[in-house]
Amino acid sequence: MRTHSRFTLWSVAALLGLGVTLANPSWAAAPGGAPGGAAANAPGGSGRVSFAEDVFPILQNRCLECHKTGAPGLAFSGLNLETYEGLMQGTRFGPVVVPGNSMVSNLNVLVEGRAGIRMPHNRKRLTACEIEILRNWVNQGAKNN
Ligand code: HEC
Repeated sequence: MRTHSRFTLWSVAALLGLGVTLANPSWAAAPGGAPGGAAANAPGGSGRVSFAEDVFPILQNRCLECHKTGAPGLAFSGLNLETYEGLMQGTRFGPVVVPGNSMVSNLNVLVEGRAGIRMPHNRKRLTACEIEILRNWVNQGAKNN
């Protein structure tokens, strides 16, 4: 049972700028929840993750459609996922990646369905494998590698 710790983490995430979604936290009912809560805190995770080889292809396939110049996700949130710099810059409310800490990074919170909204918006959720790649990459320091 991680209800308490998740609640605390959620509060932290909210403080970091996800306040928008606080009104309807659906994380409590998320099927399966965030896989591997404990593992998610482990620095590194299993295997080195590369931004160019592992992370960017996921963003390209699943996020860029809406988070590029002229698309609604960029227009509404300010989050431009065309480049590493854009990802690290985050939304107009602040960063979505906290290097080394996937538990409070909105990038991970959203794709794992830990918030009231999930990304990709209105699309099939990421696979467990894609979610893990993003989590490990953040926990390994979110490097442009
Ligand atoms: C079908 C369009 C669409 C896709 C695909 C999509 N997004 Fe979004 N995204 C949006 C829209 C629209 C917003 C702004 C409105 C909102 O926050 O709900 C947004 C907002 C966000 C935010 C900011 C949320 C906040 O409130 O701070 C993040 C982070 C994000 N998206 C990440 C992603 C990631 C990562 C992917 C791919 C896994 C992705 N999005 C795919 C449309 C999309």
